[in-house]
Amino acid sequence: MEIITRQQKMASVAKKLRRENRVLGFVPTMGALHEGHLSLIQKARQMTDEVIVSIFVNPTQFNEGTDFEAYPRDLTADAEILSPFDVDYIYAPDSSEVYGDEYSTFVTVDDIADKLEGSSRPGHFRGVATIVTILFNTIRPDFAFFGQKDAQQVAVIRRLVRDLRFDTEIIVLPIVREDSGLARSSRNERLSAADRKSAAVIFRALSAANEMAMDGERSAGNITDKVREVIETEPSGSIDYIALVNKESLDPIEKIGKEPALLAVAVRFGDIRLIDNIVLNEEE
Ligand code: PAJ
Repeated sequence: MEIITRQQKMASVAKKLRRENRVLGFVPTMGALHEGHLSLIQKARQMTDEVIVSIFVNPTQFNEGTDFEAYPRDLTADAEILSPFDVDYIYAPDSSEVYGDEYSTFVTVDDIADKLEGSSRPGHFRGVATIVTILFNTIRPDFAFFGQKDAQQVAVIRRLVRDLRFDTEIIVLPIVREDSGLARSSRNERLSAADRKSAAVIFRALSAANEMAMDGERSAGNITDKVREVIETEPSGSIDYIALVNKESLDPIEKIGKEPALLAVAVRFGDIRLIDNIVLNEEE
């Protein structure tokens, strides 16, 4: 496993590998690695010849400077976590390496980036689309791996890749959860012990909704009411949104039809905001 910090070096290594007909798998992350990230890396290892994991806390996707500064950074610990996983390269550039002096080009995905997370975190997906574009252009991976945990990010990246004709196939992997059902996230570490227990209510609510849909419930209103009712049994949680939307366009759905419907929620516990989702009506 080699750690690369320079953009030029990463680009030339990737170019050489492509010339040798190696299939490149890329897993973009911001570090603070946990089992959610590792599931993507394991899939990349199975599917591709060369696995490249980027670790870069991307300043342009944070709204608040304090949140950016508070983001955990420990490259040594992350490299240690990765050591059993047979990763070929870690790409861990400095911010100045990625956004040098006078950086001024940004990628905006209209419409879908403004909904759900976009409305509480303006500019967030502009930062995500921009960094993913930069990283894809540096590495030019054959496959890139993303988690369904960030369902809107997946919708934004799919649209970005389609619209700008990136020659990278996007692979999406299921949400990895703690035993309690809480979706794994680096933010979970910042929850109090009591809140971490309470936050398991989110998955109980999504599961209850899923059961309703499987039993034939079609009304979005009834389904989201149920989610609200279950989450409200934990008074420490405060609901930011509960939305039932088309999985690709993120347009609201009133009645579940044949299309997969994304049930997405954001809930705050103390000052930690958690997101989670489940896809209703999806064929395996
Ligand atoms: P980060 O939050 O580090 O997540 C990196 C990848 O891991 C994302 O694709 C995310 O969806 C996935 N992931 C996180 N938790 C997961 C879980 N519990 N189950 C499955 N997958 C999970 O997402 C980002 O970084 C950044 O926005 C990035 C794409 C790297 C751009 O900066």
